[in-house]
Amino acid sequence: MKQKVILVENLERELTAAINEVPHDKLFVLTDTTTVQLCWPLVKKFECMRGAMMITIGSTDEAKNLNSLAEVWAALQLGGASRHSLLVNLGGGMVTDLGGFAASTFKRGIAYINIPTTLLSQVDASVGGKTGINFGGLKNEIGVFNCAESVLLSGEFLRTLDSENILSGYAEMLKHGLLDKCEHLTSLLAFDIENPDYAKLVGMVGESVAVKEGVVTADPTEKGIRKALNLGHTVGHAIESLALREKRTVLHGYAVAWGIVMELYLSVRKCGFPSDVFHQIETFVKEHYGRFGYECKHYNELYELMTHDKKNQGGIINFTLMGGVGDIRINQSATKAEIEEMLDYYREN
Ligand code: GLY
Repeated sequence: MKQKVILVENLERELTAAINEVPHDKLFVLTDTTTVQLCWPLVKKFECMRGAMMITIGSTDEAKNLNSLAEVWAALQLGGASRHSLLVNLGGGMVTDLGGFAASTFKRGIAYINIPTTLLSQVDASVGGKTGINFGGLKNEIGVFNCAESVLLSGEFLRTLDSENILSGYAEMLKHGLLDKCEHLTSLLAFDIENPDYAKLVGMVGESVAVKEGVVTADPTEKGIRKALNLGHTVGHAIESLALREKRTVLHGYAVAWGIVMELYLSVRKCGFPSDVFHQIETFVKEHYGRFGYECKHYNELYELMTHDKKNQGGIINFTLMGGVGDIRINQSATKAEIEEMLDYYREN
């Protein structure tokens, strides 16, 4: 993994150093319509940004599509970008995923730096080189693995987030706690996420990203253990796709939190995950994320959506389950009846 993950103390100093480490002819900055207003003002005054060409695309996951991607390619072309140009992605996971993909494909690949501005992108999306766009109604359907040169994690941006976006990122932190060890998970469950102590949260981001980095370094292209990072996502992505079809707004982390509960239910049933820890997580998620409402008539659609999961092989739905906190079981399958039982449990509780 070539990328450097930097817990920022002084954004100007560390961004200047990161840019200087990449020899380049022209500098481009990608924002969306939200981060251009909330985050760009913090960065544009830096000397290292002088002369940077701005590209701004629509915000939210709906803009993570081929049209926005073409807009970025066109702006790079019009701005005279060469293979030696550098793109800085300033935004949440949509911007870092799409910008990373635009950079990875423009003239067969230019260098890019991520400055993730949401908790979700700081702890997950911007780290580990997964880039891409949504396509054909499916999340992250088209993309490549290609790491940023550097990822700068700055606490300054976390204060610009509303509580839904803090919670959305926190779901991925819970996932990392589950994959790591009991002490990590316990500290996450005890933290007051509705009234966060930001200084403490920044330290927790560092601990969380270290879990992800360890996994990604061992398996950058998800042949094996990186599938662990998909805990909660087999169900979570199906929920997001169903919500998208029904024009219901669901933030990624909320879908992951609900997906974690359902997949831990399967883990209790199939892998002996301790039921007391399961109930702790279930209670935490219910209290902070509420519930995803669906009916029996949605079961076939949710099941069909799970069959599109990128981990699947030979038509068998591939889950990452847990035998306990830190006891990761990749490549698990479940029958349709087991999946329906899981959907029944969640709907009824
Ligand atoms: N978001 C999971 C991964 O990066 O593998």
